[in-house]
Amino acid sequence: MISKILLEWFYCHKRNLPWRHSYNPYEVWISEIMLQQTQIDRVIPFFNHWMERFPNLAELTEASEEEILKLWEGLGYYSRARNILKAAKQLVHMGYSTVPPDEAVLRKLPGIGAYTAGAILSIAYNLPFPAVDGNVRRVFARLFNIDMPVISGMGLDLLNNYVLSTLPSENARDFNQSVMELGALVCIPRSPRCPLCPLQKFCQAFQEGEQNNRPITNKK
Ligand code: ADE
Repeated sequence: MISKILLEWFYCHKRNLPWRHSYNPYEVWISEIMLQQTQIDRVIPFFNHWMERFPNLAELTEASEEEILKLWEGLGYYSRARNILKAAKQLVHMGYSTVPPDEAVLRKLPGIGAYTAGAILSIAYNLPFPAVDGNVRRVFARLFNIDMPVISGMGLDLLNNYVLSTLPSENARDFNQSVMELGALVCIPRSPRCPLCPLQKFCQAFQEGEQNNRPITNKK
């Protein structure tokens, strides 16, 4: 029920973002790395410029680190760009022409942790993997009124279980993006826009008036 309502909301409200056009796995990977520490509005021009210059893995592996860092100028956290080049070279060395739908391979690549692997597998390949970032943690901490920090330990385990039991196995691509989108547009960190939220009547934090106190961020 929650996933169905959320998906309907997503289809009406999703933003038109360049990496949502084809769900090309290489593009999804680069977009997710760029989005790790940078706001969407800022990422878009860098993403478009990157794709003009390095449209695929093969072109990217021909580039020098210097050129890649130059293109990254303005995004910051340059280790992200260095890791992209290292990962691209490893993939080509292994015989791949793009980021593959293989969790074990993805997780061994520099710069790809559980979140990014889940995002590639679900958004690019529509495989039933969770992709839990800060937005998703906030949405689920509120939806299920989780009264523990959800960064690690029991709170995170609990949250991951809620995510897994809500994720529709046939449409992880849109489901994961719909939760991120709700977190970015409605279920925002401060003063969430509950009157606009399609999940208001399911939201346990809202029922208890606790939405501004979730997620819990410190241990005290
Ligand atoms: N933040 C990180 N990845 C995202 C995505 N695919 N859509 C929207 N926001 C995001």
